[in-house]
Amino acid sequence: TMDHNGHSMNSSPETSSQAQTQQMAASSDSSMEVLTGTTFTLTAKEKMLHLDDKTMKNAWTYNGTVPGPQLRVKQGETISVTLKNELPEPVTIHWHGLPVPNNMDGIPGVTQNAVRPNESFTYKFKVDVAGTYWYHSHQNSAKQVDKGLYGSLVVEPATPEPVDKDFTLVLDEWMQDDSMAEMHGSGMSHGTSAPSSASSSTGGHNMASMEMPMSDAEMMPLMYTIFSVNGKTGPAIQPLSVKEGEKVRIRLVNAGYLNHKLNLQGHEFKIVATDGQPINNPPLVGGQLLNIGPGERYDLEFVANNPGKWLLEERSTNPGAKSLVVPIVYEGSESKAAKSEAGDMPTIDITKYGEAAKSSFTLEQKYDITYQMDLNTETADGKIFFTINGKTFPNVPPLNVKKGNLVKVTLVNKSPKDIHPMHLHGHFFQVVSKNGQPISGSPLVKDTLNILPGEAYVVAFEADNPGDWMFHCHDLGHAAQGMVSEIKYE
Ligand code: C2O
Ligand code: CU
Repeated sequence: TMDHNGHSMNSSPETSSQAQTQQMAASSDSSMEVLTGTTFTLTAKEKMLHLDDKTMKNAWTYNGTVPGPQLRVKQGETISVTLKNELPEPVTIHWHGLPVPNNMDGIPGVTQNAVRPNESFTYKFKVDVAGTYWYHSHQNSAKQVDKGLYGSLVVEPATPEPVDKDFTLVLDEWMQDDSMAEMHGSGMSHGTSAPSSASSSTGGHNMASMEMPMSDAEMMPLMYTIFSVNGKTGPAIQPLSVKEGEKVRIRLVNAGYLNHKLNLQGHEFKIVATDGQPINNPPLVGGQLLNIGPGERYDLEFVANNPGKWLLEERSTNPGAKSLVVPIVYEGSESKAAKSEAGDMPTIDITKYGEAAKSSFTLEQKYDITYQMDLNTETADGKIFFTINGKTFPNVPPLNVKKGNLVKVTLVNKSPKDIHPMHLHGHFFQVVSKNGQPISGSPLVKDTLNILPGEAYVVAFEADNPGDWMFHCHDLGHAAQGMVSEIKYE
């Protein structure tokens, strides 16, 4: 049999500590181990990460690898994950996208105390919703996730839809020079000192480009120039091996800071899910770029019907783009090496993709709570802040709800250049409109919404999971500089 990273899994060596239930699927891909079962141990520890032969990073890891092992569990099961901390700083695990009870959400100071060095904590919850998720530390996350404390989590549906190959690709970026690491999220101004616009409500496109010669959005791609897939970069990235006729699934997870625009050569594909949630009747697309923002997931499927050697690669002007290249190699194919494609390609608009269907929420219906979040980049005293309604966390007023409330949130990105991938904990939301236009494609259910400068979205959800939940930008540097709000249940 094949495991879900496309490797043979006939043998199942077991780890000593969790011999009964934590099974390790044998994998020829040293960059990702797959664990199945219901009981797991993740040990946070330092480990040298070899991005390629000559590029090494002193990483913070779960179980010694970046990404940490993939946890592969079954919908409806109750899992327990013991986090052991062998790092010098407190850590947690947040189950990004997966609706868990509030006390399992991994938010230090809110849902639990951070797990201190040499201590442990056991997360235990039922996995109700199938899909592609990920996990990461939520303690000082601008630093800890950046250093590698993350992994993927796949919840198999109760009745799985089988494919021949099921790959997971976790994307991230690294700096050549780690001494710049503290800049992002520290609020250090990247440019010449800018006049304060903290009280400005205009937020126009021209304003900040005049005031801020080097924005965060421009600086980040210049700092993070090594792009990685499953902890490897460039030619060290493991090729995806397929056979003609196979049905192939690729689960993309963006664990980094940057948007990535990907092109799949030689094949039409379907986007079958985003953030783990299915797309209704997805059509085949080809020659178009898929943009994945920080925290988002996209599941693609294609039929391997074009033997040869192809690339799944980033196409952007970011300096690191050429290091994000995943070869797709047909077994037995002798053809020459694949080349990057040139020319412009449009980007898929996920709000217009898939077939419309009756959706749970509309613009017109009555909501119990309506709320607007204006997202902005502001400077004061030469420091950059990322604000919600002009405030930074913890001064952003929380969104107070009662269980059962229907909640509508309007999200407006007023930053001139910064992208804000907004992530809600504990709930999925439905995207109702984009720039005033109702969603015309498949109903779109997400937990992370990548909002470009100038865009305005309406999202809606039912408050069905009591507790205190974060709603924040998943550019974790932006979050560290203020772009965090909370949803609180009465
Ligand atoms: Cu993936 Cu609050 O984060
Ligand atoms: Cu942001």
